[in-house]
Amino acid sequence: MSNGLLKGKKGIIFGALNEQSIAWKVAERAHEEGATFVLTNAPIAMRMGELNNLAEKTGSQVIPADATSMDDLQNLFEKSMEILGGKVDFVLHSIGMSVNVRKGNHYTNENYDFTMKGLDVSALSFHKVLQTAYKMDAINEWGSVLALSYIAAQRVFPDYNDMADNKSYLESIARSFGYHYGMKAKVRVNTISQSPTMTTAGSGVKGFNEFINFSEKMSPLGNATALDCANYCISLFSDMTRMVTMQNLFHDGGFSNTGVTQEVIEKFAE
Ligand SMILES: NC(=O)c1ccc[n+]([C@@H]2O[C@H](COP(=O)([O-])OP(=O)(O)OC[C@H]3O[C@@H](n4cnc5c(N)ncnc54)[C@H](O)[C@@H]3O)[C@@H](O)[C@H]2O)c1
Repeated sequence: MSNGLLKGKKGIIFGALNEQSIAWKVAERAHEEGATFVLTNAPIAMRMGELNNLAEKTGSQVIPADATSMDDLQNLFEKSMEILGGKVDFVLHSIGMSVNVRKGNHYTNENYDFTMKGLDVSALSFHKVLQTAYKMDAINEWGSVLALSYIAAQRVFPDYNDMADNKSYLESIARSFGYHYGMKAKVRVNTISQSPTMTTAGSGVKGFNEFINFSEKMSPLGNATALDCANYCISLFSDMTRMVTMQNLFHDGGFSNTGVTQEVIEKFAE
């Protein structure tokens, strides 16, 4: 399916790790819609080597960057503008990681060094990406920057742990930086709050399988897939959504506005 929605647009896509990754699907769809872009991920993620397959498939170059390193980000934007022949039109931040979740630390028993690392990777890195681009004037007018969030930023999902706090911070950055970048250069900044999705990051959350089934039953349209999310990202990178900025946009089949569904209620009749 191609409608040429991103014809002539240039971008940077963070966070494609393997075929399950939301960023992987975004890259495939952006390529189909006519965009050219640079793929990037943390140097450690490159060791798995899968990103090169995506690069080949989409005619893209790969530039490693740890999204918490200002030097790496500066190098990434410089090289991307060289490769793509000018400023970019879109950036996808599809990055998340909690060391407390990985180590199985309960929310009431955080190791704060781990907390700070997760906050840096999952939320502050978004500010770092934006600040680097802002100072380098690396994004064209009406450009669009997106990060991916989850509803645990607003409501309690106990096993989401400190990622909930990281997502609240991430969404706040979209609002605050969106103001400043909009004023300066008409650049748009939003977060998409996506359904639970079976990816490497997602399945790291305790009880994820049960949770994804619960969410499916609690959403009138069912869970949004990674491909659905990619399609939504394409629309937000396109000129069809030029006046959308500073928003957290739910992309969850209606989950966020559903109190209960008949199917879930019936479970309690048994
Ligand atoms: N899977 C879900 O259920 C779900 C739901 C809502 C939101 N999200 C969000 O979507 C985004 C993408 O996650 P995904 O589900 O596609 O999983 P994923 O594991 O495929 O992607 C996470 C990416 O973050 C990258 N990363 C980690 N540390 C980094 C660093 N220091 N620098 C640069 N990159 C780094 C990883 O290498 C990986 O590519 C995350 O922000 C995640 O929180 C996921």
